[in-house]
Amino acid sequence: MSLCINLSNRLAIVTGAAGGLGKGISKALVGAGARLMLIDRDQQALERAVQSLPRQTVAVVLDITNESAVNYKLARLWEEVGPPHILVNNAGVGGRVGLPFTRLSADDWKIPWEVNVVGLFNVTKAVIGQMQEGCIVNIASVSGRTGFQTSPPYSATKAAVINLTQVMARDLAPRGIRVNAVCPGMVFTDFYRGQRLAAAEADPTLLEVSDERYFEEKVERLIPLKRGQTPEDIAYAVCFLASDWARSITGQSLNVDGGLVMS
Ligand SMILES: NC(=O)c1ccc[n+]([C@@H]2O[C@H](COP(=O)([O-])OP(=O)(O)OC[C@H]3O[C@@H](n4cnc5c(N)ncnc54)[C@H](O)[C@@H]3O)[C@@H](O)[C@H]2O)c1
Repeated sequence: MSLCINLSNRLAIVTGAAGGLGKGISKALVGAGARLMLIDRDQQALERAVQSLPRQTVAVVLDITNESAVNYKLARLWEEVGPPHILVNNAGVGGRVGLPFTRLSADDWKIPWEVNVVGLFNVTKAVIGQMQEGCIVNIASVSGRTGFQTSPPYSATKAAVINLTQVMARDLAPRGIRVNAVCPGMVFTDFYRGQRLAAAEADPTLLEVSDERYFEEKVERLIPLKRGQTPEDIAYAVCFLASDWARSITGQSLNVDGGLVMS
C-alpha cells in the first residue's frame, strides 16, 4: 500500500459543505483524489464553495432536516454520479447557551436535534442504500464527550451523534461499511463566531469582546497544546478515517482538539 492517502475514483458526499469545516474537508478529499457531491442548504455559499475547488463537483441545495426532500433529490442523482463510497455528515448547528440549563425552554432543543441528529440520520439512510462498500464519518464535537455548560442542547445532540455512530457501525459492519466520528475541538468558523453572541446572552460583558479575542482566550485557557484547530486539522482526520489505512477502525470517535478532552 502506498504511504499516501489515496481516495481516487471514490465518490465522497459532504454535508454542510459551504461552511468552515465543510470547505476544508472537501478540499482535502479532492486533494486525495476523491470526486465530490456537496450538500448545503445555503445555495450562494455552496456555489462559492464549489467554485473554489479545482475539480468539477456536484452541488445539491438541500435542507437535511427535510426527509422527503433528501430522499427525492438524492434518488435522482445516483444514475448521474454512480455509487457513493464516502459520506461525511458534517452539517450542524449550535444552540442556545445555558449557564444554567434552566434558562432554556423546550423549544430550544428542537433545531439542534432536528439538524444534528435527525438530519444526519436522513442523509445516512438515503445514502447507504446505494453504498456497496465504504465508510461514513460523522462530525461530532468535544461537547459530545463531556457536557459543556455553555450549550446543553448542542452537547446532548453531539453525544447522540457519538452514540449513533456506534449503532450505525454495528448495523453496517456486515456490509463492510465502517462508521466513525471526529470530534473537533475549537475551530474559528462562522459557527464559532455565533458562539460568542450566544454566550453573551448569559454574560453581557462578552458583547464588548471581539470574536477573535473570545476564541483566543478560550484556546489559551482550555487547550493544553495552546492552539485552536483549523479546518485542515479536522480534514486530515476525516481523510485518514475514510482511507484504507483505517480499514480496521469502526465505531470510534477521534478527538481532534489539542488535548481539550482526554477520553
Ligand atoms: N467550529 C467549531 O469549533 C466546531 C467544533 C466542534 C464541532 N463542530 C461541528 O463541525 C460541523 C461544521 O461546523 P462549522 O464550524 O463548519 O460550522 P458552519 O456554521 O461554518 O457551517 C455549517 C454548515 O452547515 C450548513 N447547514 C446547517 N444546517 C443545515 C441543514 N439543515 N441542511 C443543510 N445544511 C445545513 C450551513 O449552511 C453551513 O454551511 C458542525 O457539525 C459543528 O457542530 C464545529
